[in-house]
This record gives sequence, structure tokens and C-alpha cells, in this order.
Amino acid sequence: MKFVKARDYEDMSRKAANIISAQVIVKPDCVLGLATGTTPLGIYRCLVHWYERGDLDFSQTTSVNLDEYRGLEPDDPHSYHYFMRENLFRHINIDPANTHVPDGSVKDVDEACRRYDAVISGLGGVDLQLLGLGHNGHIGFNEPDGVFAKKTHLVRLADSTVEANARLFDSKEDVPTQAYTMGIQTIMHAKKILVAVSGENKAEIVEKAFLGAVTPWVPASILQLHTDVTVVGDAAAFSRIEGRI
Ligand code: GLP
Repeated sequence: MKFVKARDYEDMSRKAANIISAQVIVKPDCVLGLATGTTPLGIYRCLVHWYERGDLDFSQTTSVNLDEYRGLEPDDPHSYHYFMRENLFRHINIDPANTHVPDGSVKDVDEACRRYDAVISGLGGVDLQLLGLGHNGHIGFNEPDGVFAKKTHLVRLADSTVEANARLFDSKEDVPTQAYTMGIQTIMHAKKILVAVSGENKAEIVEKAFLGAVTPWVPASILQLHTDVTVVGDAAAFSRIEGRI
């Protein structure tokens, strides 16, 4: 694993966005794996800015997102479809037909999962996967568990995840308790992985996930076994591993 040290959130966002930019410049028709959450917002702001400045062209790029809440329609303001549209897609020249997010409104769970895996394999896999990190070590919505789930699947969200994400809803009761997520095997098959972490409240899980034991109880720990992972973090997020990376 490579660790890239950033000063603060803005610096982390620029450094991570530079890595994504390089990917799009070197391979304009690449498949980007994208993430939601608060962490990537600054990265998306940089990409939009650089697109507006004329430095980036997403016209041939395809995206696949990690996850989506079950039961939310794509136009629901709390859905990850909406998040991606508002924070990235509608500001750049990516073709909406080339953007993929699991469909949380599909009633049949197996069908929803099967369809999403077919989309990803049809694209030939992911070139660069962006990941955030949940406080319990989740990536996408792969929650701590006794096994690493391979393919797209439905998860029951951990209480701590529901609580952490409640800030984006009117109340905790409004947070869906289930979500579809890309599986660990699919994430691990991405050619390159970029993890973005920021803030003191991620310091403990950063240490566990990246310097601790590899275990499905800390899903992000599996990333230690991937051959091309870059973790970009600010000083606060790296505060417990500083000196060891
Ligand atoms: C959510 C998302 C994850 C994200 C995580 C961390 O649960 N499903 O993909 O990485 O939260 O979010 P944040 O970046 O807001 O800390």
C-alpha cells in the first residue's frame, strides 16, 4: 500500500482528484468506480473545477458506483443516484447512460444484484476504484461480518452506520436499514484502488484497517492484499500511523 500524506481536507481532496484526473487523461475511456459519503465531496469539486477549466474530458468515461439504499427511487434526494448527479455527473460531460448506480427501487433482490454484477462484468471491470472508509471499516456498504461477500448483495446496515448517515436525513428513523453494495471480490478486482480518508474520527479505523490484521470484521483490511492501493489521508486521519508509513 502507498500512503500519500496531505495537510488537510482540501489538500487530500486535490491529491486524490489528481490521481483520478491522471487516470482519465491517460485512459479517457476508463471505468471509474465511484463512492458517496462526505469524504469524496472535495474530490468531486476539484474534478468539476478542472473539467470547467478545460483540463478534463469525461465524454468517453464510464462510472460504476459502490452502493445504494434499498427502497429509494433514483430521484429521491437521499438516494446515491441523486447524490452523484448533484455532486458530479450533472456538472461534467459524462454521458448519463454511462453512469451506473445499483437500482435501490428494484423489488426483487436477486434480480437487482444480478443486474448490477452483469453491468460491471459487461464493462470488463473497474480501472480505478475510489473508496471512502466507514468508522467500522466498511467499504461501500460491506459491513463487518464473518466472511468477505464476493458479489453485489443486499446488506443490513450496522446501527453505527445508520447513526453515522443519519446526519444526511431528517431523523435516524428515516435512514433505510438495508442497502445494495458491490461485493469485496469486485472491489478487489479493480486494477487500482484509491482510498480517501480525512479527520481525527477516522484515525483509529485507519490504523486497524491498514496496519492491523486482515479480517472480514474490518472489511477494508482486505485492501492490504491488493497490489495497487493508494491511501490519501490528511494529517488528522493519519495521526495514529504517522511514523509507521
Ligand atoms: C457511507 C458509504 C461509504 C462511505 C462511508 C464513509 O456509508 N456507503 O461508501 O465510504 O459512508 O462516509 P464518510 O466519507 O461520510 O465518512
